[in-house]
Amino acid sequence: MPIPEYVQVHQVVVTVQQAENATNGEAPINLTSPRHEEEKTRLLSFLSRSNGKWDAHHPRHRLLDALHDYVRYEERQTAELGKWRRLYKSASAAQKKLLEREVGYTAKLDAVAALIAHNQRLCDAIVENGLRFYAVDRAELDDHIRLREADGKAADRVSVSQALKHYVRDWAAGGRGERDAAFPCILQALQSLFPDRLADGEPPQPAVKVLLPGSGVGRLGHEIAALSFEVTSNEWSMYMNLAYRYLEANPRVASSNAHPFIDNWSHHATTADMFRGVTFPDRAIDPFAVLLVEGDFTNAFTSTKNNRRQHFDVIVTHFFIDTARNLMAYLDTIHALLPVGGYWVNFGPLLYGTGPYVQLSLEEIVSVVFAMGFEFVDAPEVCGDLTFENQKIRGREAVYGFNERALVKNAYQAQAWVMRKTR
Ligand SMILES: C[S@@+](CC[C@H](N)C(=O)[O-])C[C@H]1O[C@@H](n2cnc3c(N)ncnc32)[C@H](O)[C@@H]1O
Repeated sequence: MPIPEYVQVHQVVVTVQQAENATNGEAPINLTSPRHEEEKTRLLSFLSRSNGKWDAHHPRHRLLDALHDYVRYEERQTAELGKWRRLYKSASAAQKKLLEREVGYTAKLDAVAALIAHNQRLCDAIVENGLRFYAVDRAELDDHIRLREADGKAADRVSVSQALKHYVRDWAAGGRGERDAAFPCILQALQSLFPDRLADGEPPQPAVKVLLPGSGVGRLGHEIAALSFEVTSNEWSMYMNLAYRYLEANPRVASSNAHPFIDNWSHHATTADMFRGVTFPDRAIDPFAVLLVEGDFTNAFTSTKNNRRQHFDVIVTHFFIDTARNLMAYLDTIHALLPVGGYWVNFGPLLYGTGPYVQLSLEEIVSVVFAMGFEFVDAPEVCGDLTFENQKIRGREAVYGFNERALVKNAYQAQAWVMRKTR
């Protein structure tokens, strides 16, 4: 049976230009940045095999693992699809006859296969860009894949799929609702903390420095940079970093496309919703507006090679603090990287992951950070209603779901605060 017409396989347009001025009303793109060049040198040295012990935690090993998983996206998704094909065989002949006649179920499975192949082309482009950006030979990646698979390690299906969904949250029109719940709170807080940062319409010297750990695929950092802050983002996940490096190299509006919802058969009102293509980015990206520093927040800025203690004017944590293995290490790092008078702006839930050293309630976090030397500053009203009568913490619903058309909602009562370091 032919693929139903609601399946539209869009072509992935991959551009390798990295620093060309955008046209057609898109934001102008800087041609270079000394701090980006300096960080790239540091990053390549950080990733070199000779940097520390070679094991699964080595950053280059994690990079090669993530590249392997992007390479095998189609294979892993197709294996999952094979499971659904086998299970369908268990329906009775009469049931299958009805399903084929009414919904073309086999054609639907075939259509998903075609869309998986389409997504693989984007994954291949992410891999090609990653090899180029991180100066990794294809032969090294092939060797890594061969050894890993010989070791019985299958590529991870979920992490790549999650990274593709993060493109929706951050860079597609469909993620706007998720962004609109959080960004105005953070952006207004920053603007009211630094109302004079624009002297005569020019960025001041030195610039107000904002650090954004756990930046995902990076949209918030670009929104903050657009308000004339100097933004450094930080991300540990190589899946996210590969996805972000691809965006830096493909910054034009609507230059890429994926079908991010085909790996989940639940919660779709229509099959077209499940199959729909998502185009991104929805605004032009200046790759030099934000500096991405890769690595673990708790040591990326405190090592002797990259000591940024008391360096940042503001740290913005957006859906981040609850990702900590050790929440206290995150708090210590926030404290260490801010000077006295520096600010911490938080927006997000308290969803502790697997194996956290400590799990604190909101009121416990407040007493700990007060004891460390922070005090509350007013958070803007757009951050929501006061959570406690006597504390300047605000809470509002914030969706973290990637799919605005899904018949399910994954939302948090995200907690927002602005704190000043007093000692
Ligand atoms: C819940 S996600 C939120 C991402 C992004 N802020 C957003 O709201 O879309 C948390 C992010 O923090 C990153 N992360 C977790 N632990 C980290 C660490 N120790 N250092 C830097 N990033 C980390 C994860 O890889 C993930 O991308």
